Amino acid sequence: MLLLLVVSLLVTCSRAEDKEITLPRLMNISAAETFIDSAEVVIIGFFEADGGLGFKEFLAAVEEVKSLPAALCNEKEVWAKYSIDSDSISIFRKADLHQENLKPAKMEKLDKDGVVRFFSIMNIRYITEYNQVSAVGLFQSKVKVHVVLLANRGSDNYSELKDRVGALAPHYAGKMLFVQINGKDQANARALDYFNLKSGDLPRVGLYDAESDKSWLMGPGEISTERVQNFCDSFLSGELQKEKETAEPEVKSEL
Ligand SMILES: *[C@@H]1O[C@H](CO)[C@@H](O)[C@H](O)[C@H]1NC(C)=O
Ligand SMILES: *[C@@H]1O[C@H](CO)[C@@H](O)[C@H](O)[C@H]1NC(C)=O
Repeated sequence: MLLLLVVSLLVTCSRAEDKEITLPRLMNISAAETFIDSAEVVIIGFFEADGGLGFKEFLAAVEEVKSLPAALCNEKEVWAKYSIDSDSISIFRKADLHQENLKPAKMEKLDKDGVVRFFSIMNIRYITEYNQVSAVGLFQSKVKVHVVLLANRGSDNYSELKDRVGALAPHYAGKMLFVQINGKDQANARALDYFNLKSGDLPRVGLYDAESDKSWLMGPGEISTERVQNFCDSFLSGELQKEKETAEPEVKSEL
């Protein structure tokens, strides 16, 4: 009986601890810079005071999306540096060197799920897995060129190919976004169609330019970092544009 009581007390204690999330507080610009630099995507809650509008929802959302590092900041010196003029939930990412602000005061409806959705859409990585949610974020980015790795999840080189192609992303940050499309997922059939590919043709690498709405495929064969880099560079130098683009698919889709 006594043992049971002790056990249940322990359980209660650890639960209470889990619930209380303590986020780091950024006290000056150098601490903020270090934090932003520490991961591909980070979140900062710029709240003048704890408990301000959206504060509770921010903490709840951060707790749900555990994979993204988050911090709080109410130092005006840091606010000025990142052009924050009122309470703001901000996401910083390296892939396109972008800062996106969500202003609780300007939202019609503010709840935890909305903030979680904001985090999920804006979670654009050096190499981002394509799905219905990330597609929204990808197409909102100022970077309009997508380098696409189309591969079947579970195939031999799947994660190796992701690493090889993703390794190039920092080099092209702000110029190109790297996207991984799983050819095994039925939901991605339209994306494959867009490149006139079938699951059996994979792995392949393509490039989509939203500005001109054109796309190209790198030739079949080994997908090495070097080949993909040459492919990317040929787009930036304008050489690729002289080559034949992927044949127009019958049905136009978003990607
Ligand atoms: C910035 O704040 C951190 C704590 O957040 C502190 O360790 C550091 O010394 C401060 N740096 C400067 C330049 O004030
Ligand atoms: C997959 O890996 C094998 C063995 O390393 C290699 O020969 C092959 O070219 C790779 N496939 C691609 C598409 O890079």
